[in-house]
Amino acid sequence: MTVHFIGAGPGAADLITLRGRDLIASCPVCLFAGSLVPEGILAHCPEGARMINTAPLDLNAIVAECKAAHAAGQDVARLHSGDLSVWSAMGEQIRRLRAEGIPVSVTPGVPSFAAAAAALETELTLPGLAQSVVLTRTPGRASTMPEGETLKNFAATGATLAIHLSIGNLDNVIADLTPAYGAECPVAVVYRASWPDQQIIRTTLAHLKTDVTENITRTALILVGPALAGEGFDESSLYASEYDRRYRPQSAESPWSSWRHGDD
Ligand SMILES: C[S@@+](CC[C@H](N)C(=O)[O-])C[C@H]1O[C@@H](n2cnc3c(N)ncnc32)[C@H](O)[C@@H]1O
Repeated sequence: MTVHFIGAGPGAADLITLRGRDLIASCPVCLFAGSLVPEGILAHCPEGARMINTAPLDLNAIVAECKAAHAAGQDVARLHSGDLSVWSAMGEQIRRLRAEGIPVSVTPGVPSFAAAAAALETELTLPGLAQSVVLTRTPGRASTMPEGETLKNFAATGATLAIHLSIGNLDNVIADLTPAYGAECPVAVVYRASWPDQQIIRTTLAHLKTDVTENITRTALILVGPALAGEGFDESSLYASEYDRRYRPQSAESPWSSWRHGDD
């Protein structure tokens, strides 16, 4: 018996790995975070599966469900939205399950920042503009931020910021980022990326507050940085015609000329 943690993706029912889908189909018990996991994903559960929405449960109750399944020898599919490596609360569940001697596995999912970038048809690391993406958030009612992980500090790098869980905190986002990025820095807000009611707002730090409509109160990502302009960037060396590389040696003298597939 194993509790399989599975990234259920950002919303669209077909944005899940084949492994994740097959695991869901093999588990007689499914625990899912009801607020964000779409029904289309739950459709992969086998007929008669015990399906439990964990939104109203606390950690003790979730672990109790896993212990009951363990006692019955039933595998559990534990679904969280997006990918499990960020803001999934998987860490505390795995710690408790290990203490109970219950085996776990982890299957990654499509994170919401990737779905948002796809919706924007944008690369977040454009040469000459940004080569790093910071996945971050602002403090919430239930979560403080470690000292040092401030928007002001991240802004000082000039990287592309993917700010989660912060659509209700726009005043602070704007105040903290404007000194480093400038008021005209491009911003994209993607609401419910990949869901049928997805919305995209392209704006600037100066206009962010007025351009985000009142109906957008949750499940939105704020992407900030010069790369969001999608222009004014360099071409990468990788595909430059004169770039000497392993798969495209430029002359007989190239160190790559004698390299063959399988050499390393
Ligand atoms: C608890 S976190 C979950 C993050 C998730 N584990 C991931 O990989 O993206 C919830 C936040 O992720 C972002 N988010 C999740 N799904 C989203 C979507 N479909 N579109 C835009 N933002 C989303 C929002 O910022 C939301 O407040």
